[in-house]
Amino acid sequence: MRVLLYGGGGREHAMAWALSRSPLVGEIHCAPCNAGIASLAKIHDIDPSDPEKALDLAEKLSPDLVVIGPETPLVAGVADFIRERGIPVFGPGALGARLEGSKAFAKLFMARHGIPTADFDICETVEQADAALCKRTPPYIVKADGLAAGKGAFVLGTLLEAREICINLLQRKILGESGRKVVIEDFLPGEELTVLAVTDGSTFRFLPSSQDHKRAFDGDKGPNTGGMGAYSPVAWADDTFLQKVSFQVVEPTVRGLALDSIPFRGVLYCGLMVDQSGGIRVLEYNVRMGDPETQAVLPAFGGDFAALALASANGSLGKTVAESTSRFAVGVVMASKGYPSYYEKGFPISGLERASGKDGVIVFHSGTTINGAGQTVSSGGRVLTVVGTGDDLPSARARAYSALDDIRFEGAFYRKDIALGKGVKHDE
Ligand code: AMP
Ligand code: GLY
Repeated sequence: MRVLLYGGGGREHAMAWALSRSPLVGEIHCAPCNAGIASLAKIHDIDPSDPEKALDLAEKLSPDLVVIGPETPLVAGVADFIRERGIPVFGPGALGARLEGSKAFAKLFMARHGIPTADFDICETVEQADAALCKRTPPYIVKADGLAAGKGAFVLGTLLEAREICINLLQRKILGESGRKVVIEDFLPGEELTVLAVTDGSTFRFLPSSQDHKRAFDGDKGPNTGGMGAYSPVAWADDTFLQKVSFQVVEPTVRGLALDSIPFRGVLYCGLMVDQSGGIRVLEYNVRMGDPETQAVLPAFGGDFAALALASANGSLGKTVAESTSRFAVGVVMASKGYPSYYEKGFPISGLERASGKDGVIVFHSGTTINGAGQTVSSGGRVLTVVGTGDDLPSARARAYSALDDIRFEGAFYRKDIALGKGVKHDE
């Protein structure tokens, strides 16, 4: 197969890696790109969020499968345009992508189809927001309705702060159109995890479960980020738990989409909160794989990712066999000093070959590029995800951290506690 992959971050490097390992795949094209993906794929310098350009490239290459990594092209309907030309696409069209593109739409969808989630109000004015906040106790949860690159959800300790955020979103429009509406919902205590279900709109297959570490610094301190590391699978997300997720969340979601006449071929990302008594609620849907979850999930996945993506895109998932997880993977993000706020770019990265030459280590690139002198340099906030794999979580973790010791660039920082205490003893 010739596969065209859209997106140029760590998630897409992991996807290109998984695709390249499939006997079905002969040729991978990617747009845009980073220095890591460039070693696995032919590169095209276009912005896949521009439907015209994305369609143009797909028509030119005539691939057997298009895989769309990020949310922006999905919400922009790129999958629809390409699918209309008869090319199979792994990724939902604009209608399905509203599950991620509008939090209000997702909450109403869940309410309509009996899918457990926090009680909520949708507010378009500060007066409505005031009323919704006053019904609740701290901490307050306020979310911008639209896409906000991970910066649209707020957890606030006081009524004053929550009100200020609502004013910023609804009146001062700090997130533009994305904050035209806000969702205010009950705070849910518990432990978060991510469950990815690949679906073709009628049936689904789970990928291994994972947990992301969103705060910048050790001990879950510091600002929220796109994710500083992830591990997969999660020990307590056993078969009984996944059956419950299936029954309470994924089956009703897939059925609900069909009932609402929304086609969906791609990944349903279920961000779940699990409370002390095992109660499950959906925090959010995404319509794509997570970053950095994918960098851990795909190395942990025992199956053929290309076959799975193709079956989803073709609507023939029912004919595939469900694969079980065979390995553990821990992915640690190396970031630029200052991330998630201002950071500098262009620092040469050393030790990449030595690190990725180690047993059970894969180095996925996120924000990297090749400079004029042919050096691999940092070009983003999250620069690399260094992944260790193994037969258990401690050995996967040890491999990731041993490889991190080899890699250097100016201002690099990473969390030392990814997957720590998750079935791993603190002295390991
Ligand atoms: P979201 O973008 O909806 O996933 O929210 C971002 C993060 O905010 C989540 O990963 C949670 O850590 C936190 N969060 C969102 N909604 C809630 C909630 N209702 N209760 C507790 N924490 C939440
Ligand atoms: N790591 C969270 C996300 O990809 O949405």
